[in-house]
Amino acid sequence: MTTKIDAPQFRKALGSFTTGVTVVTTHGEDDKDYGLTANSFNSVSMDPPMVLWSLGKKSSSLPAFQAAGHFAVHILAADQERISNQFAKSGTDKFAGCTIDRGHGRVPLLDGCSARFECRVVHRYEGGDHVIFVGEVLNFDSFERPPLVFHGGNYGMVMKKTDDAAAARTSFGDGWLGFLLGRAYYQMLLPVRNNLAGHDLRDIDYNILTVLSMGDGRTVAELDRLVSISGLRVADDDIRKLAERGLVVLDDGSEREGVVRFTDTGRSYAIELLAISKAAESDAERDLDYREAQVMKLLLRRVIQTTASMLPDHWQKDQFWRGNHLWTEPEPSDVS
Ligand SMILES: Cc1cc2nc3c(=O)[nH]c(=O)nc-3n(C[C@H](O)[C@H](O)[C@H](O)COP(=O)(O)O)c2cc1C
Repeated sequence: MTTKIDAPQFRKALGSFTTGVTVVTTHGEDDKDYGLTANSFNSVSMDPPMVLWSLGKKSSSLPAFQAAGHFAVHILAADQERISNQFAKSGTDKFAGCTIDRGHGRVPLLDGCSARFECRVVHRYEGGDHVIFVGEVLNFDSFERPPLVFHGGNYGMVMKKTDDAAAARTSFGDGWLGFLLGRAYYQMLLPVRNNLAGHDLRDIDYNILTVLSMGDGRTVAELDRLVSISGLRVADDDIRKLAERGLVVLDDGSEREGVVRFTDTGRSYAIELLAISKAAESDAERDLDYREAQVMKLLLRRVIQTTASMLPDHWQKDQFWRGNHLWTEPEPSDVS
């Protein structure tokens, strides 16, 4: 007799168990490659080395796996969500765009994953609506890439838990988010500021050059609007001083309002500042691993989105990014 359970609730409860994501592949007797996304993977034994995974009986790959003597399990890396989705779609060319090596039993081996196990099938067990495959590991590779995670129907990344009491402190003061963001920003900006000081330039000059780096050719009023979020204001005098230094020109032309543009010197100096700030970013992320750096940016983007509604109207309507920015990898959605 089958126990009566609420299937959606059962599925939901199972989803609270966090797993990695794998792609299991094999080579069929028909000389075709087969594969599917599976999170039912688990380790079984150290000696002999054995692993298992289970395959739904409705899977179109079942006959191929039933007949095959070998399979390979690829533990997907954090940046392989696309591969996971590709191998979870039945009836498509799952291997499209994949670089393939051949392993034991001509099994297709994918690259870019976190770890890979080549296995010989040693047991097949009936498991309700699934078949459980147990394989002896013949060969494995560990690529040290951070893994993709699956929890509650969503993909995720692993983040180390910290016992640092300071991390959990919520009191106003040095636990205030604004203080932390501000302090991190000013500390990161020190190398840029030192460089500016060496050129006898100030914060307002940096702000103007930065806004021009995101899109050259702005009126003074536009520059003022965009810079105003920092609390600083741009006046004609600031532009005149930068022009005297040969960094910008005020292109009066036939336009009603003059437009400020980089000179060649100004553009190369802005690129130099950009390089210094990129180096400062790498330095700041030195003690973070890939996942932590990604999560930090993700959370900061959320804070930016949540607090954007507090911006004055004129600032919200302005767009920093234009086609003629100096960044190689623009992220326009970050600042709009
Ligand atoms: C994260 C994730 C984990 C999955 N785990 C399994 C699994 O362990 N076993 C299984 O049979 N299907 C699993 N699936 C579903 C299969 O990948 C999906 O049904 C696939 O289309 C089967 O392909 P096929 O019909 O071409 O064999 C999973 C899907 C996802 C997205």
